[in-house]
Amino acid sequence: MKKVILKIDKKNIPIFIGDHIITKIDFSKYIKGNDVVIITNKVLAKLHLDKLKKSFKKFNLNTFVLPDGEKYKDINSFTKIHDFLIKNKYGRDLTVIAFGGGVIGDLASFSADTFLRGVNLIHIPTTLLAQVDSSVGGKSGINHSLGKNLIGSFKHPEVIIMDTSYHKTLPKKEFVSGIAEVIKYGIIGSKTFLKWLNTNAESILMKKNEYLVKLLYASVKAKSQVVQKDEKESGIRAYLNYGHTLGHAIESSKKYKGILHGEAVSIGMTFASFISAEKSTLSIEEFNLIENTLIKFGLPVSIPHNIPCAKIIKHIDFDKKKKQGKNNFVLLNSIGKCYITNSLDIKYIEKLVKSFQN
Ligand code: NAD
Ligand code: GLY
Repeated sequence: MKKVILKIDKKNIPIFIGDHIITKIDFSKYIKGNDVVIITNKVLAKLHLDKLKKSFKKFNLNTFVLPDGEKYKDINSFTKIHDFLIKNKYGRDLTVIAFGGGVIGDLASFSADTFLRGVNLIHIPTTLLAQVDSSVGGKSGINHSLGKNLIGSFKHPEVIIMDTSYHKTLPKKEFVSGIAEVIKYGIIGSKTFLKWLNTNAESILMKKNEYLVKLLYASVKAKSQVVQKDEKESGIRAYLNYGHTLGHAIESSKKYKGILHGEAVSIGMTFASFISAEKSTLSIEEFNLIENTLIKFGLPVSIPHNIPCAKIIKHIDFDKKKKQGKNNFVLLNSIGKCYITNSLDIKYIEKLVKSFQN
């Protein structure tokens, strides 16, 4: 079993990584009282909940099961969770377990942060995206009808458990979508890691355990190092948004249907890398390594032709309004060396979006 420590708010948060580790963790170290509530969805409840429950035999355990899907990451589910916790008369010594992908992680952590002004939280992420990204760094939240992730907080867990055995049931498309965020850590932080991903794409796609453990360890370490330096995103945490300006615009244009987050980010990262090669000092050789790695994992690198360019530009402009009138793009001087620019002309972006459509 591998371990990374995330040091934040004078707190040391252990992150455990390994195969079938869920039964090997002594949860009593991370649980204050006797009450534990697992928050999950119907898919996970059917596949993995019975086994997980065995790890909490010593405690007064309850479960709250939501329907599956991003549309349930909303105020309605949030209220239902609070109704359940209040009706069951839980106190401040409650521990909430977020058991699922990023949707459950964001919703359960926001609920844990707001119930009685904050109770204990444990993350057990079950998708690759949730393991390498959403469970690490404390961002919690729900969607508003006017936009994604508009309501939320920073809430860190007591411990994060990354069990690679959950990948066996994860659909390939979801797994590959998570890989985009893993590739991102290579692009923004380490050419050696990016090259390793490129060389070992086949073994990773076969979900060989030693490869999964290595990529989880490298990703979690990379994210922890950024979050430790800039928890509230006033500086370098924004580098984690590499490829996300266009990625979010594509997702919003498609109303979050028919494209997964990682797929949109993959297109966005290719786009940002192309701009970096045109406007900065990213070499063609490094651009090719980035694009080729994404392609090797079966990720898209061009914008679907059926999304009108005007829609994408409108969403990039909406993003700009949220950021005090500036189009913030994260670009590269070289692999591992990011910077943020707000000086890209919208006409230039528009022309490039058109040329990126397949
Ligand atoms: P998800 O939670 O919807 O999970 C994807 C699908 O996989 C769902 O159908 C789910 O039921 C299923 N699933 C999960 N684990 C499984 C398993 N082991 N076996 C079989 N099926 C399984 O999506 P996601 O990609 O994990 O997360 C996306 C969410 O994460 C978005 O809401 C996004 O905003 C959020 N997010 C948050 C942060 C953050 O920092 N908090 C970062 C990135 C993304
Ligand atoms: N997913 C980006 C962040 O955690 O900041």
